[in-house]
Amino acid sequence: MSNLVLQASNLSRHFSDAEHRLDILNDLELSVARGECLAIIGSSGSGKSTLLHLLAGLDKPDGGEVRVGGEGLNGLNEAQRADIRNRHLGFVFQFHHLLPEFSALENVAVPMLLANRPISEARARSFELLKQVGLEQRASHRPAKLSGGERQRVAIARALANEPGCVLMDEPTGNLDPQTAQEVEEYLEKLNQQLGIAFVMVTHDHQLAGRMDRTLLLKNGQLQAV
Ligand SMILES: Nc1ncnc2c1ncn2[C@@H]1O[C@H](COP(=O)(O)OP(=O)(O)OP(=O)(O)O)[C@@H](O)[C@H]1O
Ligand SMILES: [Mg+2]
Repeated sequence: MSNLVLQASNLSRHFSDAEHRLDILNDLELSVARGECLAIIGSSGSGKSTLLHLLAGLDKPDGGEVRVGGEGLNGLNEAQRADIRNRHLGFVFQFHHLLPEFSALENVAVPMLLANRPISEARARSFELLKQVGLEQRASHRPAKLSGGERQRVAIARALANEPGCVLMDEPTGNLDPQTAQEVEEYLEKLNQQLGIAFVMVTHDHQLAGRMDRTLLLKNGQLQAV
């Protein structure tokens, strides 16, 4: 098995309207090794979210290819991409995107049920994951009854549900006050060390970026070492 959990080669994405063509990503290269902790920084509009969506197979590139756990995404249909995403990747957005009608525990269980894992196993593992982010006392709470930091910790637990090789995060603490952001970051650091899951995190927080193994700057459509 390859040591790379995620790879992008020659990745390009542009957006066009009637008059303009915006080249957002240009022949971008990225390799993420097992267990690696990677920060991506870059100015607003540089294409960081666009890149994460491509890496997760939520969007299709205009050129190049993404490989997730060694499997190329090009040529796969939506359902096949969703299946690879669900088995190999976790995604944490800036806003938690939890299902409002479901409890914390049920939200964490959803990806496991989508992967056809038995309900009893999904429940038990969801509880364990909530415990890992310090929320075992909040398992039955719906998102509306959780604080911002707690919601984001549930979203992180959900991203870990199917033992992904890599978790992609788009400013996971960008919407939190500094103290709460710090708390969430401490959980992330602990999880990365304990579980050996690779993290690719977009952040505006240079201090947070500084604690990762590697920081890359997205500029002119390409990633460069910082
Ligand atoms: N679906 C789309 N159609 C047209 N333009 C788009 C689309 N998605 C993104 N863009 C443009 O691509 C550029 C990059 O957007 P993106 O959201 O990736 O930036 P970002 O680096 O994540 O910025 P921020 O730090 O503000 O979140 C922006 O100029 C945006 O307007
Ligand atoms: Mg963004």
